[in-house]
Amino acid sequence: MSQTIPLLSLADTQKFAENLAARLSCGDVVTLAGDLGAGKTTFAQFLIQALSPQPVEVTSPTFTILQTYQVTLAGGATCELYHYDLYRIEHPSALLELGIEDALSQVALIEWPERLGESRLPIALALSFTLADDGARSVTVQGDPKRWSDIAL
Ligand SMILES: Nc1ncnc2c1ncn2[C@@H]1O[C@H](COP(=O)(O)OP(=O)(O)OP(=O)(O)O)[C@@H](O)[C@H]1O
Ligand SMILES: [Mg+2]
Repeated sequence: MSQTIPLLSLADTQKFAENLAARLSCGDVVTLAGDLGAGKTTFAQFLIQALSPQPVEVTSPTFTILQTYQVTLAGGATCELYHYDLYRIEHPSALLELGIEDALSQVALIEWPERLGESRLPIALALSFTLADDGARSVTVQGDPKRWSDIAL
């Protein structure tokens, strides 16, 4: 399944992030592709805030590569959320030092998934953010239709 959702304002991104947040389970890996400035971190910030019991400051993992959060999912399960920005990693092998094996049993948001190389991760949902020349933003969603077909609602 692939569908494209317009994200013409920050409010649109927030609504989409909140819809997705409400449907996540521990063990979900969500990849966030898209060029510099396309809106990946902004989406992650809204999603993490939606899952945080207390207000939380979500900073971009541009330099740290990984930031982790404690989140409470719909239904009350708690797990950790690993937010990666892989732009600066030299080689996919660096992921082991960055706790990727632990992340797989938690929730993982991965910016710059192209840097994963041949690593075979069980990706629950692949998002691709686009910023068009006219300034219009959108996100293309790919995942199992049984689970995600009505994500745009
Ligand atoms: N839906 C939107 N409407 C308007 N502005 C947006 C939207 N989404 C993101 N922005 C703005 O675009 C800018 C870049 O967004 P963001 O940092 O999320 O991009 P990114 O994809 O994470 O970039 P990078 O690859 O550099 O990490 C920010 O100033 C953000 O506020
Ligand atoms: Mg970013």
